[in-house]
Amino acid sequence: MVFPMVSDDNILIEFCQAILSNLALSCVLISVTAIAIAWFIRDSFIVEDLDKKHIFITGCDSGFGNLVARQLDRKGVHVIAACFTEKGGLDLKAAASPRLKTVLLNVTDSLSIERAVEFTRTEVGERGLWGLINNAGRASPMGPTEWMQLEDFVKILDVNLIGLIEVTLKFLPLLKKAQGRVVNVASILGRIALNGGGYCISKYGVEAFSDSLRRDMHHFGVKVSIIEPGFFKTNVTRLDIIEADLERLWNRLPEEVRHSYGPTFFDEYLKVQDFTMGLLCSADISKVSNCMQHALTALHPRTRYSPGWDAKLMWIPMSYLPAFIVDFFMAVLLPVPKDYKKIYANQIGVESP
Ligand SMILES: NC(=O)c1ccc[n+]([C@@H]2O[C@H](COP(=O)([O-])OP(=O)(O)OC[C@H]3O[C@@H](n4cnc5c(N)ncnc54)[C@H](OP(=O)(O)O)[C@@H]3O)[C@@H](O)[C@H]2O)c1
Repeated sequence: MVFPMVSDDNILIEFCQAILSNLALSCVLISVTAIAIAWFIRDSFIVEDLDKKHIFITGCDSGFGNLVARQLDRKGVHVIAACFTEKGGLDLKAAASPRLKTVLLNVTDSLSIERAVEFTRTEVGERGLWGLINNAGRASPMGPTEWMQLEDFVKILDVNLIGLIEVTLKFLPLLKKAQGRVVNVASILGRIALNGGGYCISKYGVEAFSDSLRRDMHHFGVKVSIIEPGFFKTNVTRLDIIEADLERLWNRLPEEVRHSYGPTFFDEYLKVQDFTMGLLCSADISKVSNCMQHALTALHPRTRYSPGWDAKLMWIPMSYLPAFIVDFFMAVLLPVPKDYKKIYANQIGVESP
């Protein structure tokens, strides 16, 4: 039997290699930790004189807008909260300090936007507007594309995208004056289109508009952040509203189209929706308002915020996967229309069910 020769030189070389590889690993770990600490410290710097700054927020009757208006008001910021209804404005005023002002605003009405800009111009004076949160939005109807008519798309796009663009354009001169911030509320549905209707399209549009706005306004000191929340319990995700609207769409479909989905499809679709929304929707909407607050008050706001565990761990990673994997996931999740079963059976040459 022959034993390999182990010389002192070999041991020395192995020892040096071990030290070097450990040294390299240690260097990497130390660098990563140092970068994380530096990033955390940079992230925590807050702008000065918040009590001298004005922030305009749309859609403050309920949900994220209502919460962030009260939150920023408590921080001493001059909040101008735009509400869609008079009642929404009165309720918010009653829950805030006398510093908070409300205005009525319908983002689909140009005159209403101009009136809100005029009101804000008088309030902010020479300082200009520090922050604009484009939060107003609506989601219903959402559902299979074939169930929609053109007006269903337009209704959503008018509020979520065209309204947001018009509000931003009209406030830009005041924002430039203050070298302020724009915070646009998109959604993870602006990164991955999980259902039909105008909502995902509108939020993809908000993402694109915000990216170009950020690059264009960078030279003027105006910063733009995008909020991409996962699913949260607000009016936008209220199942009774979504389901009543879905039923309206289903009932107005021509008999022949409904027949192609089969008698059980609608109920199965609602069951899947109830189950997934129940599983995903978080009641802690402060995760979203805290991101909005950070985007407006941090010295170095982030470009994108993705509040919610589902956004961070599920939807954003999934949005980077190849389309066929996402298609497969959705196909497993959603019920199958009757006609698909027939077509599939024909393809594989068996009797259709
Ligand atoms: N909840 C979620 O899971 C989720 C996830 C991602 C993104 N978002 C987005 O977050 C934003 C805020 O929604 P939310 O979840 O807080 O729901 P919400 O409570 O329904 O807030 C939306 C607000 O917008 C208002 N609004 C509707 N149409 C308007 C119009 N034409 N002009 C002005 N205001 C109008 C609503 O008023 P009324 O209540 O009187 O109709 C409401 O106050 C929306 O852009 C939504 O798309 C929500």
